[in-house]
Amino acid sequence: MRHFTSVYDLPNLSEAIKSALEIKNNPYGFQHLGKNKTIILIFFNASLRTRLSTQKAAMNLGMNTMILNVNQDGWRMESEMGVIMDGDKPEHMREAIPVIGRFCDIIGVRAFADFESKEDDYTEKILNQFIDYSGVPVISMEAATRHPLQSFADHLTIEEYKTKARPKVVMTWAPHPKSLPQAVPNSFVEWMRQTDYDLVVTHPQGYELDKKFMGDLVVEYDQNKALEGADFVYAKNWSSYTQYGEILSKDRSWTITSDKMSLTNNAKFMHCLPVRRNMIVTDEVLDGPASIVVDEAENRVYSAQTILKMILEG
Ligand code: CP
Repeated sequence: MRHFTSVYDLPNLSEAIKSALEIKNNPYGFQHLGKNKTIILIFFNASLRTRLSTQKAAMNLGMNTMILNVNQDGWRMESEMGVIMDGDKPEHMREAIPVIGRFCDIIGVRAFADFESKEDDYTEKILNQFIDYSGVPVISMEAATRHPLQSFADHLTIEEYKTKARPKVVMTWAPHPKSLPQAVPNSFVEWMRQTDYDLVVTHPQGYELDKKFMGDLVVEYDQNKALEGADFVYAKNWSSYTQYGEILSKDRSWTITSDKMSLTNNAKFMHCLPVRRNMIVTDEVLDGPASIVVDEAENRVYSAQTILKMILEG
């Protein structure tokens, strides 16, 4: 594996899950792999978990880490080709990316959808420039359309907590005051569809995800019906894909409450975090025994470490 941008980059998903569990039991057992290797983590957007977990994963492997918060620490970067650079962006990615590539062995990139162009977002314009120009392996730390390290950690967490071979996993839309990208739900659905879970997706009309991720999965528009018998409830907000980036609803009847959780099979509650309390999920659920969001976040280290280990070995 050279780059990691989606589940399809993994040679074998079940082997990757197995490897992550082994690493979790022995996180410092592969330090020789990262000796004298450097990873640079590039952030175009804010982060808590991705930044710290990927840095920790690299350190567990003996790597050196450098972090660049592009919009705070570096020059503002132009990504358009052929432009006259007479504005507020003094550096072009066409030079910046290969320069960064000369300073490291692996690059991690976080570049969210900015909703200015659906085409630019859905062709991963920024991430692909890093792949094309850096000359080194690139891992996605959440791009415009996918958040594969998150989905890997989510999958790992479900494997740890499941009590039956084929759990019912319900991904539900929940309300949020801001317009959020579709990367987490796209990626979660894509990842879940690669394994034999009973996956159900529920959201209000107008929030349909790109078919590329949903495949032939049929949406259950009745959230209560979707939650019946669920073993895992994965809540997330996203903005409309069809009316790109728009908020069509802030209906708080979609908030995950104890009443909603009582419809399930004692389901575990999951969310990628950060989470808006009492918008996405009530305090009672988030602070109660069903919530596994912190364990899920911890698994970000082992999912990242598995990917870095595979790239270093490769
Ligand atoms: N879940 C996640 O990616 O968290 P951060 O945005 O804090 O990195």
